[in-house]
Amino acid sequence: MKSILVANPKGGSGKTTLATNLAAYLASLGRQVVLADLDRQQSSAGWLARRPPQLPTIHGHQGRKLAIKPDWLVIDSPAGLHGDKLAAAIKMAERVVVPVQPSAFDMQATGEFLSVLRELKAIRKEKSQVAMIGMRVDPRTRSAAELADFLLAAEFPVLTYLRDAQVYVQCAHEGVSLFDLPPSRTARDIEQWRPLLDWIGHGD
Ligand SMILES: Nc1ncnc2c1ncn2[C@@H]1O[C@H](COP(=O)(O)OP(=O)(O)OP(=O)(O)O)[C@@H](O)[C@H]1O
Ligand SMILES: [Mg+2]
Repeated sequence: MKSILVANPKGGSGKTTLATNLAAYLASLGRQVVLADLDRQQSSAGWLARRPPQLPTIHGHQGRKLAIKPDWLVIDSPAGLHGDKLAAAIKMAERVVVPVQPSAFDMQATGEFLSVLRELKAIRKEKSQVAMIGMRVDPRTRSAAELADFLLAAEFPVLTYLRDAQVYVQCAHEGVSLFDLPPSRTARDIEQWRPLLDWIGHGD
């Protein structure tokens, strides 16, 4: 089983958006996927409950033990995750994806989080690999340049920048993902996802 944790203690940074789309991408490849939601708000679990049954199956997760051993475990995590719970979540995942939005508040909170990550044993020993994603980025803006500077200094690889697009909001509403929609609606966005999909090895 391979596992990806999506984490950033900053609220609203895009964790659930990334986790649900990643889970759906892996399911679209025919992989058996569990989407675990560590957040009491249960946003990912709610998305899964709205997911149309004819789409590729993603299994939810309740309780402590996994009911099935999937090919992939995708873990969505809550805002404010820290301390032992953060360390335990990182220990479960060989890959950690951190979304960051181009705002001073987001970068400040994320900077503190990255300092904590760097000190964690699993990351120091390279058992878990961390990668950053710029979220809701308009490359024409000054804040996009500020985010790029911030991410370059972060010492973890920056995989891609995803634009601010209504398709993400609509997908959340309908329990679907970019990877369930007609390519004509999503080509530009999936192009932006490509480096992240390469990083997770296309589900293999
Ligand atoms: N690239 C994007 N374009 C447009 N809207 C986006 C994008 N990414 C996220 N959003 C929207 O921003 C809001 C916050 O995103 P999301 O719920 O994924 O963040 P989160 O980190 O999971 O939040 P929380 O910390 O509350 O769990 C949602 O309404 C989501 O639809
Ligand atoms: Mg969330």
